[in-house]
Amino acid sequence: MGSKKEEVRRKHIRLHMEGALTARDKVGVQDFVLLDAYTSESAFLDNLRKRFSENLIYTYIGSLLVSVNPYQELGIYTLSQMELYQGVNFFELPPHVYAIADNAYRMMCSELNNHFILISGESGAGKTEASKKILQYFAVTCPMTESLQVARDRLLFSNPVLEAFGNAKTLRNDNSSRFGKYMDIQFDFKGIPVGGHIISYLIEKSRVVYQNQGERNFHIFYQLLEGGEEELLAYLGLERDPQLYKYLSQGRCAKESSVNDKNDWKTVSNAFSVIDFTKDDLENLFGIVASVLHLGNICFEENQQGCASVPDTHEIKWIAKLLGVHPWVLLEALTHRKIEAKTEEVICPLTLELSAYARDAMAKAVYGRTFTWLVNKINSSLVNKDFTGKTVIGLLDIYGFEVFDKNGFEQFCINYCNEKLQQLLIERTLKAEQAEYEMEGIEWEPIQYFNNKIICDLVEERHKGIISILDEECIRPGPATDLSFLERLEERVGKHAHFEFLEKNNDLLYRHLKEVLCRSKNRILKECFLVAELENRRRAPTVGTQFKNSLSSLLEILISKEPSYIRCIKPNERKEPSKFDDFLIRHQVKYLGLMEHLRVRRAGFAYRRKYEHFLQRYKSLCPDTWPHWHGPPEEGVERLIKYIGYKPEEYKLGRTKIFIRFPRTLFATEDAFEFSKHQLVARIQATYKGCLERRVYVRKRQAAITLEAHWRGALARKEAKRRKWAVQIVRKFIKGFINRNKPLCPDNEEFIVFVRKNYILNLRYHVPKSVLDKSWLRPPGILETASDLLRKMCTRNLVRKYCRGITAERRTLMQEKVVTSEIFRGKKEGYAESLNQPFANSRIDEGDINPKVLQLLSSEKIQYGVPVIKYDRKGFKTRQRQLILTQKAAYVVELAKIKQKIEYPALKGVSTSSLSNGILVIHVSPADIKQKGDVILQCEHIFEAVTKLAMLVKKENLINVAQGSLQFYISPGKEGTIVFDTGPEEQIYKDKNGQLTVVSIRMKS
Ligand SMILES: Nc1ncnc2c1ncn2[C@@H]1O[C@H](COP(=O)(O)OP(=O)(O)OP(=O)(O)O)[C@@H](O)[C@H]1O
Ligand SMILES: [Mg+2]
Repeated sequence: MGSKKEEVRRKHIRLHMEGALTARDKVGVQDFVLLDAYTSESAFLDNLRKRFSENLIYTYIGSLLVSVNPYQELGIYTLSQMELYQGVNFFELPPHVYAIADNAYRMMCSELNNHFILISGESGAGKTEASKKILQYFAVTCPMTESLQVARDRLLFSNPVLEAFGNAKTLRNDNSSRFGKYMDIQFDFKGIPVGGHIISYLIEKSRVVYQNQGERNFHIFYQLLEGGEEELLAYLGLERDPQLYKYLSQGRCAKESSVNDKNDWKTVSNAFSVIDFTKDDLENLFGIVASVLHLGNICFEENQQGCASVPDTHEIKWIAKLLGVHPWVLLEALTHRKIEAKTEEVICPLTLELSAYARDAMAKAVYGRTFTWLVNKINSSLVNKDFTGKTVIGLLDIYGFEVFDKNGFEQFCINYCNEKLQQLLIERTLKAEQAEYEMEGIEWEPIQYFNNKIICDLVEERHKGIISILDEECIRPGPATDLSFLERLEERVGKHAHFEFLEKNNDLLYRHLKEVLCRSKNRILKECFLVAELENRRRAPTVGTQFKNSLSSLLEILISKEPSYIRCIKPNERKEPSKFDDFLIRHQVKYLGLMEHLRVRRAGFAYRRKYEHFLQRYKSLCPDTWPHWHGPPEEGVERLIKYIGYKPEEYKLGRTKIFIRFPRTLFATEDAFEFSKHQLVARIQATYKGCLERRVYVRKRQAAITLEAHWRGALARKEAKRRKWAVQIVRKFIKGFINRNKPLCPDNEEFIVFVRKNYILNLRYHVPKSVLDKSWLRPPGILETASDLLRKMCTRNLVRKYCRGITAERRTLMQEKVVTSEIFRGKKEGYAESLNQPFANSRIDEGDINPKVLQLLSSEKIQYGVPVIKYDRKGFKTRQRQLILTQKAAYVVELAKIKQKIEYPALKGVSTSSLSNGILVIHVSPADIKQKGDVILQCEHIFEAVTKLAMLVKKENLINVAQGSLQFYISPGKEGTIVFDTGPEEQIYKDKNGQLTVVSIRMKS
């Protein structure tokens, strides 16, 4: 616990707690319990005003909601607002009527107990609106099944119908509820609204016949006239103009701009269809509504006997028609009274005044009982026929306190009702709260509060209370009037009241009229006025007593349920938005007992929680209790609050609960929880995300493995197929190879084709590129013949290509080489070496030949020239000469001199040596006198020169390749010899025999 890290964490929680607290308090405080000056009424009002001016109409006192009527649409009842408040902890969001509704709903669901929401406040403070908002909230946010939508819709739509018949425009409220309403919404175990039940209290019947200046009768009359279809009005004998009806025009405001009767009519008509009203029901219902209007228009006249008569029976006829009674019977009942004397009945006429009283009594009775019928009818449509256990949330929207200068009997009842409810609130909050501290063993100094029990007692106490006195006065024989009642009251309670109490308390409908109504053919009236009632001679309980009884049963209903309270406040008398009437509000705050409530809340503990629940919620704030605390919850809570730093004055530990004195402590804890929740959420999220990712990863991996396996399988199968195929091929190949030499048969057919193809394809790359390239791809045995043929073709082709590619010049050269070959091949050493030395056209340029010689030879074309060494025939002296060959002759030239000309016909032969020397002897005929003798020459280009000469001379066997020696003519008849020999070095010399010895180096080959 003491580690540094934890200290930091604890500090952080504290810091956060305070930050959020100030943020909450920006517009006043949203819970009065947080007010510093909580005993000051002014501070209370200031806070209310501050918030009201920012359109924050809701403020809590602990769990009680104070609501100030904004008299304007604030946009705080949207769907998203409803969603916002759904399932959220009460104090986590700004105060709202939805929070109250949601809290009651959650508690009901979790604890399976019954609840009620008591909405109180004076007329126009917004009670009905609040109850409607709550109903809507349930309709929207509760779970729902298709089959139960009807039940939900009926709950919702019962409202406009009841409002049409039970609400009216008053000076205080354009839509004032003139009856009390308690509505149970029933939920099944899943929290689905499945049905409902409505109890109505004391509808203000007097309004049917009389309205104060500026007020209206019940909405339904105006709606019918304004919105009703022509045929309906004709059927009811009504005109559209409400001014024509006495019951509608006394308040002089039949047409009211703030009320849209036409639209409301549509809403109500639609609602009727939803809540299961038949056409017949509606006909009867509007028959009654219309007959009330007709009743109001009946005028009485005094006849000569001083009795009432009806000069114009037009209205009577309509009423008779609509209510299904005989017109004359009705007429008689309105103007006469049956008096029962012992055995006989005496009928005596009524005075003008009493007739009018009878008429109004009938109107009130008819309307009042019809309203009760309406409630019952709605109840029968709301009833859930499944009798399994249900829990309920009751909504009590009772008429608000009204304080007039002149307070009638109704006001008396209404205010009595409010006192009773206030009493309930006191019982349930102030008293119960203090009792709880005692039970839990918390030290406590009782708070003084005004207990209005004495007021309630004043009204309802048996024998002594106002109602008892009133009842007594009503049944007292002799003349009893309000005045006598007043005297009685003076006597008994020393209080002060007004007229009409007796009459209204008696609510007398003459028996005669009752009889008429009991015989009505209108089905609704039949249900409302039972014949049995006529037979019952016992006096009916008075209105006051009835009301007292119904209130006490209401309180019984409420006491068995868990309460939530909404206190509505009216900000001004003028129904104006944004107007905050201090005086008016101060008054309401006072009589609603809000200050006392606040005091008890403050002096006490704002919140209490069972240890288990507290620990469960906040255990994440302390490492010792998170995530689980295994000891007793009380100790866990103690450890927890010590850790988060509650100060001793902030809390007390009771027997089963922790009591937290200030809401701010709880808010702060809540905020810290919120903060830690974020951290926890982040952690959970991270873990969860990790988990998800891992799951995804594992799935992906699995998928990858599966894919891989399949792919590998596919590959392997492919490979196997390929191998199988290869095996077949190889096998076929081997078989083919084995049988390759057999004649073509299926066993070797493919092999042979393959070998052929392969060889041919291979051959492509090995075809010889030149004629000289003798290489050739070795063929397989079976293709030898083909290969030979191909080779030949190829060679031929190459040769042909070669031949085509040869130029004329080269051809000549080649031809010369051929001639050379014919002459020398195999005969003279050096021949082979000379082969690759191309022949030149000439070895002497024309420029190197002396011009004189050229001139001499001009008639002959020089074919070839080569420098030579000439050997003297006698002494073998050497001379440099040129050998020039023309078409006709060979010339031995010395510079400008032609030394010897040998015409080709005179040329007898040419000798060379078989050894590798350049000796060349041109033989001439010895008889030729022109010639000096044979010419001995030595030429470097011996093969070339001899070939050229041979080709020019064109004689067969011209060239002789001599072995050993040769003979020549020195001069005619005189021969010389040239001896050829080999030696280590080349030498040419005249030997001692006078012969020319030519020594050549022996060539290797
Ligand atoms: N929350 C609200 N938002 C806007 N307008 C409201 C709100 N509450 C009440 N009002 C206005 O105030 C008028 C009177 O409210 P409502 O009928 O609920 O009063 P009430 O307390 O039921 O009075 P009564 O006791 O006469 O029936 C409504 O018709 C409506 O115009
Ligand atoms: Mg109301």
